[in-house]
Amino acid sequence: MMLHVPEVLSPDEVREIRAQIDAAPWSDGRATVGSQGALRKRNLQLDAALPAAQAASRLILERVQLHPQFFSAALPLRILPPLFNRYADGGEYGMHVDGSVMSQRGSPQRLRSDLSVTLFLCEPEDYEGGELTVSDTYGEHAVKLPAGDLILYPSSSLHRVTPVTRGTRTCAFFWVQSMVRDDARRTALYELDQTIQSLRASLGETKECVALTSHYHNLMRMWAEV
Ligand code: NI
Repeated sequence: MMLHVPEVLSPDEVREIRAQIDAAPWSDGRATVGSQGALRKRNLQLDAALPAAQAASRLILERVQLHPQFFSAALPLRILPPLFNRYADGGEYGMHVDGSVMSQRGSPQRLRSDLSVTLFLCEPEDYEGGELTVSDTYGEHAVKLPAGDLILYPSSSLHRVTPVTRGTRTCAFFWVQSMVRDDARRTALYELDQTIQSLRASLGETKECVALTSHYHNLMRMWAEV
């Protein structure tokens, strides 16, 4: 499932993060991929060890963890601290698949990438091109979102960022290991949860709502790895 989650960051939070990271030194993004990836990647990244990157990353992690729709869709077990990238002057990232097992620098902990997330830190009118394009069984989906919104998609998908032909595209990106590894099961749980929320909002806590909530948790008990 690909899902657009709006307003994860407020405009003030986007401004605060941009002020932190815009002033930091950016380096060539090719440093962080293997030789095959390096041929197809032309962007800038922030070194995760920089204090500005760490502060911005912490704020995003806090906001994401508190967001009910993100939680419902991702069912996160572990989230890798967000990183930052920037595309300008024709910069692009060719079609690729993200690595299956990720590690955080300086930490022994590893994470299986079930979901890839891009959080936009600039407005669509700030640049031309730069669409995140994700391929799945239903074709190619081009994504460009308002600042503060994120897109979440299965890490198994092939995806690319098309060349930025004007302006600058600044985003955060990160990976999630979900409690529910299988995308179809995770999607079914998300849709069931959203239906329960909407029934509860319109009808109150009826006995059918309670029964559906029990079905939700029984499915989680069957499928969750924690
Ligand atoms: Ni990628």
